[in-house]
Amino acid sequence: MLTKDRKPIVKVMNSVEDTAELAARLARLVEIGDILLFTGVVGAGKTTFIQALAKNLGVKERVTSPTFVIHMLRESGRIPLSHVDLYRLNNDNEVESIGFEEYYDSAVTVIEWADRYSGFRPPYLELHFEYGRQENERIVSIDPNGGDWEERLAKGGIGCLSDLE
Ligand SMILES: Nc1ncnc2c1ncn2[C@@H]1O[C@H](COP(=O)(O)OP(=O)(O)OP(=O)(O)O)[C@@H](O)[C@H]1O
Ligand SMILES: [Mg+2]
Repeated sequence: MLTKDRKPIVKVMNSVEDTAELAARLARLVEIGDILLFTGVVGAGKTTFIQALAKNLGVKERVTSPTFVIHMLRESGRIPLSHVDLYRLNNDNEVESIGFEEYYDSAVTVIEWADRYSGFRPPYLELHFEYGRQENERIVSIDPNGGDWEERLAKGGIGCLSDLE
């Protein structure tokens, strides 16, 4: 449920391995129909996280940033992964012309540069990535928005990741 006073879950990741570990935990609880919105500046770690998520869903192909093709569907894992990158799109009309929402009901959809589009509606999970102080430090704020995301994150151990806090 959406709660007015919900706070994002903040995780500090000191290495690519930490990021991969968090993504692996998320991979265990994602389901067909889920929408994950990724934001954060260039190099903040969005694709790195999604690569680990894909690997843990059993995706065989190498997952690269779909910046130039905008949308890629990967169907070799336990559930299909629909990977979108809105970086090069300029307005809502351009985003709506891609057609990735056709896969909402048959895949888990992950969207990089989700803040390029104003039309996303809950339920979704928002993941905002930032650089930390150290070279390989990244900070992610995970914001469960609607649906049963809060309960699922808690059950999946993401609300209380002692080794990453
Ligand atoms: N803790 C960390 N987590 C994730 N990436 C890290 C970490 N430490 C270093 N890195 C490095 O930071 C870079 C992150 O790049 P990545 O492509 O994942 O960013 P991005 O947010 O997808 O950028 P873009 O907006 O250009 O798509 C990679 O080179 C990765 O190896
Ligand atoms: Mg990327």
